[in-house]
Amino acid sequence: MGDVSQPADYVCQHVRTRWVSRTMSERFFDVVHRQRACRQYLDQPVADALLDRVLSAATQAPSGENGQPWEFIVIREPQARAKIGELMLRAWSSGARQWSEQRLAPALLDDVDAGMHGGIAGAPVLIAACVDLDRATESTIGSSMFPAIQNLLLAATALGLGSALTTIATSFHEPLGALLALPDSVRVVAIIPIGWPARALGPPRRDPASAHTHRETYGGSW
Ligand SMILES: Cc1cc2nc3c(=O)[nH]c(=O)nc-3n(C[C@H](O)[C@H](O)[C@H](O)COP(=O)(O)O)c2cc1C
Repeated sequence: MGDVSQPADYVCQHVRTRWVSRTMSERFFDVVHRQRACRQYLDQPVADALLDRVLSAATQAPSGENGQPWEFIVIREPQARAKIGELMLRAWSSGARQWSEQRLAPALLDDVDAGMHGGIAGAPVLIAACVDLDRATESTIGSSMFPAIQNLLLAATALGLGSALTTIATSFHEPLGALLALPDSVRVVAIIPIGWPARALGPPRRDPASAHTHRETYGGSW
């Protein structure tokens, strides 16, 4: 059967598909292992053509009943971005920061602080990821929306763009609804800044998978 330790090798040898190559598969894992939150951006525009690719990846995601309940609003207008930045800062200053002080590592707290004080709103593009509740239920909002948002984040990373998943402003239903002219059935679930990173981010810090994987039953070591 040969060496099947590399899945792409196995596919190439045995399935004879044309579209999986070792390069493609390694590149996917590179992107996954590099994706992380960017909260400071260069003052340089991002072309619609790049956003098309990012949004095309987002909308390939699975969703409950294939309802595709997402609506993405691309916000470039500086005043609208500033308004969203104000909502973020309001939430951060009225309790969220205090809660996070005890929980976040100092470097992360500093980074989030900088993001809330204009770093995120300073991205040239904010994407409001919205759910249309006519195409999802309360219980499937997260499970139908966050696969699309994760695809979006990975696609941005693959293109060299910075991005970040943020939810802090999403409790402001009314101001966001008015700002973005949302119909009653549509609700913002995340605000994702997109732009060129102001500095290299380095790899994300994560526990190894083995620390959170169980063989057969909980506690079985992997
Ligand atoms: C559900 C969710 C909500 C988040 N909300 C915010 C947010 O409001 N503001 C923010 O700066 N980062 C937010 N983040 C980003 C996390 O802080 C980030 O993913 C985590 O600290 C890991 O950091 P890294 O991507 O730099 O490795 C959120 C992440 C998730 C998954």
